[in-house]
Amino acid sequence: MLNKENVIEVLKDVIYFPKGDNIINLNMVDNLMVREDGIRFDLIVEQQDDPKNDILVNAANRTLKEVFGDINIDIKVKPEEKALSKVKHIIAVASGKGGVGKSTVAANLAVALARANQRVGLIDADIYGPSVPMMFGAEYEQPACFEKDGKSVMVPVERYGIKLLSIGFFVDTDRPLIWRGPMATSALNQLMNDALWGELDWLVVDMPPGTGDIQLTLAQQFKVSGAVIVTTPQKVAFADVLRAAMMFKEEALQIPIYGLVENMAYFTPSDMPEKKYYIFGKDMGQEFADRLGTKLLGQIPMVEKIAESGDNGTPLALDGDSPVAKAFDGIAQAIINA
Ligand SMILES: Nc1ncnc2c1ncn2[C@@H]1O[C@H](COP(=O)(O)OP(=O)(O)O)[C@@H](O)[C@H]1O
Ligand SMILES: [Mg+2]
Repeated sequence: MLNKENVIEVLKDVIYFPKGDNIINLNMVDNLMVREDGIRFDLIVEQQDDPKNDILVNAANRTLKEVFGDINIDIKVKPEEKALSKVKHIIAVASGKGGVGKSTVAANLAVALARANQRVGLIDADIYGPSVPMMFGAEYEQPACFEKDGKSVMVPVERYGIKLLSIGFFVDTDRPLIWRGPMATSALNQLMNDALWGELDWLVVDMPPGTGDIQLTLAQQFKVSGAVIVTTPQKVAFADVLRAAMMFKEEALQIPIYGLVENMAYFTPSDMPEKKYYIFGKDMGQEFADRLGTKLLGQIPMVEKIAESGDNGTPLALDGDSPVAKAFDGIAQAIINA
């Protein structure tokens, strides 16, 4: 008899050999409709243009017709929807060293991209010292979670139109975290893959300092469009910048570098906004960029307000008139046009 239960039973005879199981158990059948005049369903596949898909469609057709006779069968092949399948670009914000302003740059770059009418997400991949929740005034948020296909899926927290996820939402940030390498990389994988990112133009990833497991995981398991490297203008910082840059350029990773951001490039006192004091040296960012053969994307002044705004959850780039916001607008444009 032609009904849904029987069709499902029959489809259990259709085996997807690469995974050694049938297409029902593998959750490859979706939107199944069974009516007197025929059967239709979507066949969910990993890749749209895979010759194996045709073989599977033929096998399903043949098997159904053997049992139900010459009925109408309509099978649509659809690619599986992955968390990141509608994310156009992933940007890594990195540096060789902590405390140079990666998180500050990542947060304000995300805001500047959103101000340029881009759809933006921000992942805090600094598993060891998450700072995104505080920078967006979201320390007390708990992302919603729900079950989908037997898997737990997170809904990013939204602030200023930016979708945010951080390990900081799930752990007590007052207590130091001790992660083993594999735990840290699986945490990053979950933030990336098990979340409802939807359609995004940019997913900005705030990296932990240095060149460790997280950097390797991001580079090897995800398609990263490019890295933004943050530096301060001291001469001694160049060794760190070089190390970070080399890691991304390395053959195994091959991630292009959008360019350098020179943070704390000069000091501007809040009561003299037109003054620029080059405390650590002038044009160091440009010199570093030239030596690396990359671009200087922008210079961010050292201003008290940046630290304050980081603490009170309103990134300075939100205030479009401030010189800091203008600097981040320039960086965002350079990346959009890259
Ligand atoms: N341009 C800047 N002017 C003033 N303070 C800054 C600036 N950039 C970063 N800071 C401050 O320096 C500290 C470290 O910055 P953070 O972005 O957390 O660095 P990282 O992520 O590289 O460790 C924070 O307290 C931050 O507010
Ligand atoms: Mg940080």
